[in-house]
Amino acid sequence: MMSNREIEAAWCMPEVAKEQKELADCELEKSVHDIAPFAEFLRILGNLNGVEEVIDIGCATGSYGVLLKGHFPDIRYVGYDISSEMCLHARDRGLDVRDAMCDGLPQICRAGVLLLCAVSLEYAKYPPYALWRVLQRNPLSWLMLHRVRCHEDCGRKVDERSYCGLDIPMWRWNRKELDVLFENSGRQYAWHTWPKDQRQFTIVVEPEA
Ligand SMILES: C[S@@+](CC[C@H](N)C(=O)[O-])C[C@H]1O[C@@H](n2cnc3c(N)ncnc32)[C@H](O)[C@@H]1O
Repeated sequence: MMSNREIEAAWCMPEVAKEQKELADCELEKSVHDIAPFAEFLRILGNLNGVEEVIDIGCATGSYGVLLKGHFPDIRYVGYDISSEMCLHARDRGLDVRDAMCDGLPQICRAGVLLLCAVSLEYAKYPPYALWRVLQRNPLSWLMLHRVRCHEDCGRKVDERSYCGLDIPMWRWNRKELDVLFENSGRQYAWHTWPKDQRQFTIVVEPEA
C-alpha cells in the first residue's frame, strides 16, 4: 500500500499531468451529452439557484472550468490542485488555478460559492475527515460531491486504476456512512442519481440555513 506522501507525489509527476491533459482534451472535444460526468455536472448545477462562483477542489487540468466558461459564463471559476504540473496545464486553458492541498484550503466563507469535489477528496489521507473539514469550514457554501461511487460495506480505500494512469488506492464511500456524516453536519443535502450511469452519484449539500 502506498503512503499518503507517495500518493501526493504521484499526482505531481509531469507524465501523469500530461496524460490527464490529453484525456481531458479528448473528452472536451466531444459533446457533453456523451460524457456523463460533464452532462450531470451541468444538469445539476443548472438546477441550483444563486451559484456565483465554483471552487474546484482537485481541479486537475481544469475540465470543469472549461465547461463552466462554455455553459455558464457568468459563474466565476477558481481551481485548486495539489499538483503544480496539473495547474500549469489548467492555466494554459486560461483558467484561474492555484496550487494547494484540499486539506489545507483557505476558508471560503462566502455565500454564492459552490465547492466542487470531483474525485479528489477520495485521495485524501482519510476522506471522511477531509469532507467533514470542508463542510465545517465553509458553512455558507454549497458543496457538490461529484462522481461518488459507493461500496456495500463500510467506506475504504480500494486499489483501482485511475483514469490518469496511476495505480493508486482510491476511497470508495459507503452510502449509510455518508448519510450519517451529512446528517451530523445539520445541513440539507440530496443524492442525485445519474440516468445513464447507475453506479455513480452526485451529492449536493446546501449552505447552512
Ligand atoms: C482523479 S483526478 C480528478 C480531476 C478532476 N476533478 C476531474 O474530475 O476531472 C484527482 C485530482 O485531485 C488532485 N488531488 C489529489 N489529492 C489532492 C489533495 N490532497 N489536495 C488537492 N488536490 C488533490 C490530483 O492532483 C488530481 O489532479
